[in-house]
Amino acid sequence: MTVRPIVLAAGVGKRMRSSLPKVLHPICGRPMIRYVLAALEEAGLAQPVVVVGRGAEAVQAEVGDGATFVVQAEQKGTAHAVLVGLEAVGEAEAVLVLYGDVPLLTAATLRRLVAHQEDARPGITLLTAHLPDPTGYGRVVRGAGGLVERIVEEADATPGERAIGEINAGTYVFDPALLREGLGHVRPANAQGEYYLTDVIAWALQSGARVDALAVSDHLEVLGVNSRRDLARAEAAMRVRLLVRLMDGGVTVVDPQATYVHAGVVVGEETVIHPGSSLEGQTRVGRGCVIGPHARLVDAVIADGVTVVASTVVQSTVGEGSRVGPYSHLRPGSRIGRRVEIGNFAEVKNSTIGDGTKVHHKSYLGDATVGQRVNIGAGTITCNLRDRSGKKWPTVIEDEAFIGSDTMLVAPVRIGRGASTGAGSVVTKDVPAGAVAVGVPARVIRHSRVGG
Ligand code: UD1
Ligand code: CA
Repeated sequence: MTVRPIVLAAGVGKRMRSSLPKVLHPICGRPMIRYVLAALEEAGLAQPVVVVGRGAEAVQAEVGDGATFVVQAEQKGTAHAVLVGLEAVGEAEAVLVLYGDVPLLTAATLRRLVAHQEDARPGITLLTAHLPDPTGYGRVVRGAGGLVERIVEEADATPGERAIGEINAGTYVFDPALLREGLGHVRPANAQGEYYLTDVIAWALQSGARVDALAVSDHLEVLGVNSRRDLARAEAAMRVRLLVRLMDGGVTVVDPQATYVHAGVVVGEETVIHPGSSLEGQTRVGRGCVIGPHARLVDAVIADGVTVVASTVVQSTVGEGSRVGPYSHLRPGSRIGRRVEIGNFAEVKNSTIGDGTKVHHKSYLGDATVGQRVNIGAGTITCNLRDRSGKKWPTVIEDEAFIGSDTMLVAPVRIGRGASTGAGSVVTKDVPAGAVAVGVPARVIRHSRVGG
């Protein structure tokens, strides 16, 4: 059966009180519409038609090539949106309609819905759920023999109808001819003055078509995001899903309630994530790491056996067996080698740190290239910004150099291999390999006999 999906994403999202189109609000780091499209793709339902309106360009830019876009210039309701979407559908044996604000729907449920339509060939198959709190959703009104009669929106429902716990998930498979005809009969005679897609159900039944309803058991799947409260609920539910996936993959999550992960984060087996940690963006963590308590990793690439405690790592890489923190900040562009120690209150920005180097105690390395087995003394600072021009100057520290406590390295400057600086020195000129420089400004007091 050829199935063409239509995703409705043109709505104003008034209840979000936001200038960002609703379907672009992130859930676990990803715009919610991307989850809907991912579920479609996973279910093998290709080339969806996405109906955009509010913030059309932004939505289109986010979704990219995988969809056909149709603009619903004025948001007159879900029936009108589907009518607009149908223009781009072309030949299909079934039309699957789903809403861009229902991010937790799974590919398995979509497959089930489509399979039912294919096997039983009703006019419409719709998805429902029994919710403990159905507030805000359209209710499924059933008549004699428990058959679906119609869907009533909350705003139009009687108190009796509002007591119904079965809701319309907003996911349906339609026979295209029936859908087209039904849309022509929808009138905006309701509390919101909108063309409701849900009115097609009652019309179809009256005109003798069969409507089947499938219920989904996990009611979180059908959670629709209309407000920031819903957004937080969706985030929590999605987070649980992502954490379960990590745990099933051999990761220990000490306290899932206090651990935050984005979709797309990868973590290796035997890694332990402690509470208060947030793994964001495209972060990848290796095997056997200890992350947290209180680590924030943003687009970080962490090799095997690394420890990151109470520190922030942004767009940086950390090599095997290294240790970061507590209270360190790796800013974008930092490449930390293997078995490196980045200790208390160390800040590193756009720098390369070689294997076995130790960076401890309240130091700042910016735009620096640091070799292997270097010791960076307490309070060492690279003075990479010399004037108001904003230009940053590089510092090079070669292998096995020993930088004394409180050294100011006034860039551009190079500390040669095996060279040392005295405590409190202000280094304004290059220090040759093996030499010792001290003072303010630093003078070389001893040259290496071997010359490095
Ligand atoms: C809708 C259903 C309701 C169901 C609920 C499930 C209707 C009339 N009601 O209510 O029965 O329980 O979803 O979550 O369908 N949209 C457009 N163009 C428009 C209007 C809406 O593209 O003109 C899009 C919105 O961007 C949104 C989706 O359609 O993604 C649903 O619209 P929304 O206003 O959120 O409907 P609900 O009130 O949640
Ligand atoms: Ca909604």
